[in-house]
Amino acid sequence: MSALNKIAQTLVSDKRGILAADESIGTMSARLEGVGVEPTAENRRVYRELIVTTPRLSESISGVILADETIHQKLNNGRTFPEYLEDIGILAGIKVDTGAKPLAGAPDEKITEGLDGLRERVEEYVRLGATFAKWRAVITIGDDAPSDRAVHSNVHALARYAGLCQEGGLVPIVEPEVLMDGTHTLARCQQVTTAVLKSVFEELDLLGVQLDGIVLKPNMVVAGAGSAQQPTVEDVARATVEALRETVPASVPGIAFLSGGQRPEVATQHLGAMQKLDPLPWELTYSFGRALVGPALEAWRGDETNWVAGQEALSGRAVANAAAR
Ligand code: 13P
Repeated sequence: MSALNKIAQTLVSDKRGILAADESIGTMSARLEGVGVEPTAENRRVYRELIVTTPRLSESISGVILADETIHQKLNNGRTFPEYLEDIGILAGIKVDTGAKPLAGAPDEKITEGLDGLRERVEEYVRLGATFAKWRAVITIGDDAPSDRAVHSNVHALARYAGLCQEGGLVPIVEPEVLMDGTHTLARCQQVTTAVLKSVFEELDLLGVQLDGIVLKPNMVVAGAGSAQQPTVEDVARATVEALRETVPASVPGIAFLSGGQRPEVATQHLGAMQKLDPLPWELTYSFGRALVGPALEAWRGDETNWVAGQEALSGRAVANAAAR
């Protein structure tokens, strides 16, 4: 087993999943302000400390994705975040993209940036204790979207990122997110997700990325949030697994879904329903952000007396998702 494959296997097996705590400074600040907390570097650090020190987290979480700011910060006990995570048996990951910007020639669609200097940043993150990385591409569904231009540009960047990570010793989480914004049907999301994933694997192959050393992080196939026709849990599970079976080679060790704005309980139900379908060639797990930490942030609200309530809220979601596997 290669070193990359071993890390990927650790991330997706033993009924555990990945916790995405890598919100950019802008996104994290907005979420803190949303619960009345001043968006300072220290408050972002304290909130991330609440997350990683949640009791028994390692029973349901295999890896935590950190933001660049957090990987340079320390816990109150003086340990860095990667050091502390290693102490408790959780792998540290790092978000290495620098965000999605309007795509030239398709201004209503986005291209994720961050390739310049990535080789050097990967070296630095490995020194700081990261073992895996994340890059998120966003694909919009609309009347004329996604365009071939947007899909091609994004999957090319994803594959170059994945290659650079593997060269430097990090397992890349490959995240092509088809957004749930819009009024599209389940069938349209399935069609777009299938086309995007097909394109992702063609490009990974072209750029020589080792498939047994990645984790795929796709969206679940759902109807647009604004669609009047909302599918059942079983419909979502079936459509998602169909899209994956058509496109994802069996050599990929695991698929870890993003939650994408689904309500936490609903994301968990979808994950559970997929496990009940016929045996699948890959592990199916979670790499949720909001669906894991949203309730914790709401419960904590920056008040120290709510520290335990915040951790219990996170623990509740983490245990429910592990059980759904
Ligand atoms: P959500 O689960 O909140 O969609 O976040 C996952 C993630 O890491 C997005 O890049």
